[in-house]
Amino acid sequence: MTIDERKHDHLRICVREDVQAGNAGFDDVKLVHKALPELDFDKINTETEFLGKKLNYPVIIEALTGGISKAKEINRDLAVVAEEFGIGLGVGSQRRAIDNPEFSDTYCVRDVAPNVFLAANLGAVQLNYGFGVAECRQAIEMIDADALALHINPLQEVIQPGGDRNFSGLVKKINMVSKKLNKPVIVKCVGSGISYETAEKLKVSAIDVGGSGGTSWSLIEGFRGDEKTHRIGKTFAGWGVSTVQAIREVSKLDVPLIGSGGIRSGVDAAKAIALGADCVGVALPVLRAWSQKGVVGVEDFFEQFIEELKIAMFLSGSESVPELEGKLIKDGI
Ligand SMILES: Cc1cc2nc3c(=O)[nH]c(=O)nc-3n(C[C@H](O)[C@H](O)[C@H](O)COP(=O)(O)O)c2cc1C
Repeated sequence: MTIDERKHDHLRICVREDVQAGNAGFDDVKLVHKALPELDFDKINTETEFLGKKLNYPVIIEALTGGISKAKEINRDLAVVAEEFGIGLGVGSQRRAIDNPEFSDTYCVRDVAPNVFLAANLGAVQLNYGFGVAECRQAIEMIDADALALHINPLQEVIQPGGDRNFSGLVKKINMVSKKLNKPVIVKCVGSGISYETAEKLKVSAIDVGGSGGTSWSLIEGFRGDEKTHRIGKTFAGWGVSTVQAIREVSKLDVPLIGSGGIRSGVDAAKAIALGADCVGVALPVLRAWSQKGVVGVEDFFEQFIEELKIAMFLSGSESVPELEGKLIKDGI
């Protein structure tokens, strides 16, 4: 199986198969309802700042792809929409382009997204397989990124045939990279979430909780493997810390927080922010919207998402993003 085939597999499986599992927890979280919001809907302010960069909406398109020709088209289309809406964007793992610079252009989007908050991406586990500060810096410079997301995906790596399984000593290495880089480092989970206990060991600029309840990498790799792998993938499909639980736990730390993993509507986004996230990340629905109608599909998705977010802000009496914090019904927590 070549890297090319693996990356195409991921896109194809995510578009065609049921790859979502677990429960992100948003159904059990209720926002307060203000029968008299005492607000003008048209004056709702959705702007926010994340790691020093302005966002028109507290939303980031999460890392999806890179390293194959199809990825160039996807990343550039997503970048166009991110620029248009004033939201953030992450590219997929840049490992392939570090190993083979000819793939760099599949990640480069600055020319079409000069103002967006743009996150570079590498697997943290690569710090145990020959990558160090130089490669992290290279990933950032390759795309003129505002930050580097180091993703942590132990579940995916152990299910994936031939995955990189040595996760020992990574906390120290992540903290060392974070200290030495002159750009912010985000530690980003990819669907199994992060607990307080793990998060508090990390000396990084931000955490993306990537909780359980959305896209399941256990299922995705299960679809790619033999029968036994498929069965193991199903066993661990909903494994991990749910997105709601992860936001609740990690927000106890004083660190900028992205709520992601199973965010499927603007209401989920409002709930994630009410629980303590600074902004939210969305991946699978964006890929699916793109696969159906390209740029227009992604624009439609975000128009609805943002409208839902604004309505939730209005009805909970939140004129600005920070005002959403804590707007929860207590017995709904
Ligand atoms: C097709 C696909 C490819 C992905 N590739 C990456 C990647 O290269 N790096 C990364 O950090 N996350 C990657 N992710 C994970 C997402 O960025 C996100 O953390 C995860 O899918 C949870 O969000 P969701 O439930 O909204 O999909 C990928 C997700 C999908 C669906």
